[in-house]
Amino acid sequence: MLEINGICKTFAPGTVNQKVALQNLSLTVKDDDFITVIGSNGAGKSTLFNAICGTFFPDSGSVVLDGKDITYEKEHRRARKIGRVFQDPMRGTAPDMTIEENLALAYTRSRVNPFAPALNTKNRALFREYAARFDMGLEDRMKTRVGLLSGGQRQVVTLLMCTMVTPRLLLLDEHTAALDPATAQKIMEITKQVVAENSIPTLMITHNISQALTTGTRTVMMDSGSIMFETGGEDRARMSVEDLLAKYKENKRETLEDDRILLS
Ligand SMILES: Nc1ncnc2c1ncn2[C@@H]1O[C@H](COP(=O)(O)OP(=O)(O)OP(=O)(O)O)[C@@H](O)[C@H]1O
Ligand SMILES: [Mg+2]
Repeated sequence: MLEINGICKTFAPGTVNQKVALQNLSLTVKDDDFITVIGSNGAGKSTLFNAICGTFFPDSGSVVLDGKDITYEKEHRRARKIGRVFQDPMRGTAPDMTIEENLALAYTRSRVNPFAPALNTKNRALFREYAARFDMGLEDRMKTRVGLLSGGQRQVVTLLMCTMVTPRLLLLDEHTAALDPATAQKIMEITKQVVAENSIPTLMITHNISQALTTGTRTVMMDSGSIMFETGGEDRARMSVEDLLAKYKENKRETLEDDRILLS
């Protein structure tokens, strides 16, 4: 379980560029939660993920994962427990390494004995088996450099790297936004499958409200660095895209210009 307790973050404090990115934000992600996160550009969604991952430390508040306060734990230490997939398929994998080398790297990072060789015959077969399950043809390209793969294939490799050893939390930051619609749909199906099979507590940022309402178990809407609205259960099941947009306009503090929220 992840508990975020009243975190605040202001960038460039005291300067003309001062920006309050997180304002006393609290959120609990239970072990069986798959929460979709929506909100306009600059609402603070990625900043929230950065605070959870330790990319920077919040100015105040705490982040507690499975009862352990990780607010000031180093980013690389948390990476063993927290998987993150970005919008940009170029991030998350090492382009000059092959698929199996990338998977071996992720596998080694989370093992008890990181010095034992990860790319032995047994593990090669295991990685191939993992890759084959997603029907993206990756299993036949295990010795291909990741830099040569399509964006969709790379996102699957990143997802595999994050989930091969089940993480305690999965963070998806618009991870299908850079893909064509058919590939994006396929990656979403794979995501749902991986999350369900391994019961991974998950937070997923999306600009697609329809997808936000039909994926996972709860939806939170962020605005100006805090959570403005939250829905789950039957209320969410009954909610239409128009209902949610109405809530957004009702509660919004800033202008609606510059929105990327999709009405699909
Ligand atoms: N490292 C940083 N330094 C200064 N300002 C930052 C930094 N990171 C984020 N910000 C600012 O904080 C605010 C929130 O940014 P954030 O990236 O979290 O928004 P977002 O909700 O993810 O938006 P988008 O939907 O466009 O991805 C923005 O105004 C952004 O410019
Ligand atoms: Mg963002």
